Amino acid sequence: MPIVREKLREFKARESAAYRLSRPLSAARANQENGFFGGVPQHWMLDWPMPFPLVVQQASGTSLTDLDGHVLTDLCLGDTGAMFGHNPASVAKAVQAQASRGLTSMLPSADVEEVGSLLQARFGMPYWQITLTASDANRFALRAARAITKRSKILVFDGCYHGAVDETAVNLTAGQTVAKPSLWGQAYDLAAVTTCVPFNDVEALAAAFVPGDIACVIMEPALTNCGMVAPAPGFLDEVRRLTRAHGTLLLIDETHTLSTGPGGWTGTFGLEPDIWVAGKAVAGGIPTGVWGFTEEVKLGIERVRAEIPSGHSGVGTTLSGSALQMAALRACLENVMTETNYAAMITGAIALEDGITRLIAHLGLPWSVIRLGARLETVFAPSLPTNAEQMRATFDYDLEAAIHLGLLNRGFLVTPFHNMLLAGPSLSREAPAAYVAALNSILNEII
Ligand SMILES: Cc1ncc(COP(=O)(O)O)c(C=O)c1O
Repeated sequence: MPIVREKLREFKARESAAYRLSRPLSAARANQENGFFGGVPQHWMLDWPMPFPLVVQQASGTSLTDLDGHVLTDLCLGDTGAMFGHNPASVAKAVQAQASRGLTSMLPSADVEEVGSLLQARFGMPYWQITLTASDANRFALRAARAITKRSKILVFDGCYHGAVDETAVNLTAGQTVAKPSLWGQAYDLAAVTTCVPFNDVEALAAAFVPGDIACVIMEPALTNCGMVAPAPGFLDEVRRLTRAHGTLLLIDETHTLSTGPGGWTGTFGLEPDIWVAGKAVAGGIPTGVWGFTEEVKLGIERVRAEIPSGHSGVGTTLSGSALQMAALRACLENVMTETNYAAMITGAIALEDGITRLIAHLGLPWSVIRLGARLETVFAPSLPTNAEQMRATFDYDLEAAIHLGLLNRGFLVTPFHNMLLAGPSLSREAPAAYVAALNSILNEII
């Protein structure tokens, strides 16, 4: 059953009007001169599909209440920042306790030893550094990789996103590595420092190594930022084999795929990266990124440090590794990122996946569903794409925006990007069926 465009336009107009009508308090805040550019503390907050941002009054677990009193089931969870639920009790308690003992001093706090052991045990890497964001962790790790290998370039996969990291902000367009057209103020040619190849394309990857100038491959084990694209069987093994053969370091960025299981994709499927990165949810919502690395990388960094003067290294920021972060990381790793919570998250996500799959089959829609542990998305194509180019061909922004808005008006908050869903640990048993009922009511208005 196809989507009827006329019905879609009318639906969007009705839902926009309903959104405006039911949110007078958020609306009143929307166009205020409040000292912020665009009226919001972060310009991305304007990139959601609704007519104006809803203002959040409070959030807890998988529930979010807006200024107008609407209680929403939150399947966006801050686009992963709150993947383990808003305000996890033990993180909140640790943060409160640390607040009375000092938040930052640029010195190690008493939690350091414990957190180091927890990171080692959980993610397998023997050495760690703490940053404020996943973007920072990626940037610093890439700097280290270039310093160690003495090579200038990195390799990324088309459709990637690794945060505010200049050299990863590229697309593959007509076979060429080009800066994303949306970048602000790019001052140098990113193709000089980055090679971009299609995901799941071993031949293109092998060819990119031939000049011998790639310091590091940075990748998610499955693409999650261009829609979700799973690796083809054997692809990740080939990436590892080729990077080793060419003396290139392999950085696995698990900022989103941490949804896969307690040790991320790496722990679940036994990957062997040289550098491992996560951020967003890893400290329960307190701004924190982590990068871990092998003994070989550690020796490489030591060699680099011995060769050059100490001082500004381009790695690290003042508040990185603060006492606040260490307390939150410890609480999150010990008490929040537990097997039990992951089991609950994955059970919720499977229920959503099953319900959506049944619904689209029932309605005869040529769509499919992809799930990575606790995270899932509907793809507007009958079979799952294997690279970003194929995925981009499925995009339907009007449809995506209409569904997003319809869900919001029916009590469900999903991400503004691809309508991705994340099942937090406290998602109720009833929520997946209620979500599917909401989606059904929307789809019935537009087909
Ligand atoms: C895979 C991946 N890495 C890194 C980042 C950057 O995270 P942050 O914006 O918290 O620095 C993102 C953000 O979406 C991401 O998806």
